[in-house]
Amino acid sequence: MTRTRLYSLTFAALMIGIALALWLEGSSFYMTHPWDRSMHPGYDALRSGGSWGFAEAIVGTALILLNLTFMLRRRLKAMRRFGALRLWMNMHVVTGLVGPLIVVYHTAFYPRTTVAITAFVSLGVLVLTGVIGRFIYAMVPHTVAGAEMGMGELEARLTEARDHLATVARPDDPLWQKLDQLSRQPLVTPKSSLGCLLLLPYTLVATAGLRLRLWSLRRSRRDVDWHDVYDIVRIRRRLHTLQLYRRLLRWWRALHRVFALVMVVTLTVHVVILMYLGYVPGVGA
Ligand code: HEM
Repeated sequence: MTRTRLYSLTFAALMIGIALALWLEGSSFYMTHPWDRSMHPGYDALRSGGSWGFAEAIVGTALILLNLTFMLRRRLKAMRRFGALRLWMNMHVVTGLVGPLIVVYHTAFYPRTTVAITAFVSLGVLVLTGVIGRFIYAMVPHTVAGAEMGMGELEARLTEARDHLATVARPDDPLWQKLDQLSRQPLVTPKSSLGCLLLLPYTLVATAGLRLRLWSLRRSRRDVDWHDVYDIVRIRRRLHTLQLYRRLLRWWRALHRVFALVMVVTLTVHVVILMYLGYVPGVGA
């Protein structure tokens, strides 16, 4: 197991442990109907403004702020010495899931004011876009350190895989000819983001079709090293979809950032209003 993976898993286990412990501690209060909660023995501690509820707000917000430092790591060269981008990405996902979850505990599963509801909903939407974006992110090939791969790197990999297969394949072999032809086809790259989105299902279906055809050949061609063949198909597909997913990722990242901004603004308004109203932890609502 790599060090990045070990750190990420330890961090994730710690965060999930905290989330589970909070549930075990307060489940009976959270399951009580909001109208009856004031009679619950845990009311003073577990309500949003109680000692626990307030601590959850602080911890949840701190994790969200920590989550935002990912943006600094992505953009600032000076931050590169603080670990691989892949590790930061994993931390971003974990803090991006656990921070909001702790904020949900802080609301005691019952946000009441308009600003609190807005902050809550924008946080939910943000996490949802994050989960969708993580899938798009996975479609863009990254180096072991977590940097995005470019066309040049992928093309070099394709040439390497093709050269390797060429040393073992006969030039008149129809399978080799098919693969060679496939790996030389020009790329279709739409100019607009909408074009990228529209072409995506076609590319995925075309790759699945090709895989199916290769699979049917597989039984009759036991002499071939299929690992090499699939390598070529995989790199070829990645080359074909690279521009597509990179555009999609860029487009999606902008959307995710807007939701992050909305969430930060509403959260700030929520805190400013409470300070303006003179809220004291453990005393107010
Ligand atoms: C409190 C919750 C979250 C906040 C405030 C947040 C904020 C951000 C921001 C500001 C960026 C843009 C970074 C940049 O442009 O430099 C970003 C990127 C990203 N976030 Fe989140 N995020 C949150 C939760 C999540 C979650 C839960 C996931 C996944 C499950 C996620 C996945 C991603 C991905 C994949 C990127 C793009 C990384 C890249 O392209 O290099 N985020 N996030």
